[in-house]
Amino acid sequence: MTASHPRTALILGASRGLGLALVEEYLHRDWHVVATVRGETPAALSRLAAASEGRLRVERADIARGSDIDALRRTLDGIAFDLVFVNAGVMTQTRDANGATISDEEFAHVMATNVLGPMRVLEAFESLVPRSGTLSVMSSGLGSIENNVDGAWTVYRASKSALNQMLRSFANVRKGDPRAVLAIAPGWVRTDMGGADAALSVEESIPRVVDVIEAHRGKAGAHYVNYQGQILPW
Ligand SMILES: NC(=O)c1ccc[n+]([C@@H]2O[C@H](COP(=O)([O-])OP(=O)(O)OC[C@H]3O[C@@H](n4cnc5c(N)ncnc54)[C@H](OP(=O)(O)O)[C@@H]3O)[C@@H](O)[C@H]2O)c1
Repeated sequence: MTASHPRTALILGASRGLGLALVEEYLHRDWHVVATVRGETPAALSRLAAASEGRLRVERADIARGSDIDALRRTLDGIAFDLVFVNAGVMTQTRDANGATISDEEFAHVMATNVLGPMRVLEAFESLVPRSGTLSVMSSGLGSIENNVDGAWTVYRASKSALNQMLRSFANVRKGDPRAVLAIAPGWVRTDMGGADAALSVEESIPRVVDVIEAHRGKAGAHYVNYQGQILPW
């Protein structure tokens, strides 16, 4: 069903990979989009902006910096967002990094980017999201504690599990809030992070991710779901 007014999404971490594809997909579906990057605007995003007839605006934020999130919130004050989606995330440098081998700096960086950053964004922007709106983060199937049977990518897994935990608390302390709060697992996708051997193309994942977000509109509380709409065990 097409909404009677143009809908607006805020997508953080949109320079490349899944975030860039999310921007493209929402523009394709006639939404207005505010997309954030942390460096120069990449050419692909500039091309989308040029073709968007004013529907794409690009802003800057490093989500690991609280001051950037505060500044972005001030810049975007007064806009109503039907969707706030935090896509930005980082992987650990090695698959086997664990409590014995990871440096203090890398552990702190992964947690600041994958856990604190997204939750700060949701806390800062929820007042711009109407009762019919959706707040979402890009989680991962690897964030499921129940499904952890091989132990690989342990620090990255821990960051997405912690993100899920904070997201669920975010929803639980807002009893009666009708907004959907989503932790999305996009599948294993061929991006810089996912690598060339990943199972899915971006085109096989992202349109389905957007379908799943749309299907959850108005479904209050926290939901951990994959790109196929399947509920994942926390
Ligand atoms: N690909 C997969 O198979 C897969 C599977 C499950 C979950 N995910 C999740 O999906 C999300 C996107 O992954 P991807 O595969 O598209 O990865 P990617 O190709 O490595 O892209 C990561 C994106 O996050 C941005 N980013 C990283 N740190 C940031 C920060 N501090 N502030 C703002 N933006 C930041 C990057 O911006 P720069 O260009 O500035 O670095 C880039 O736009 C991540 O949260 C990831 O954990 C991916």
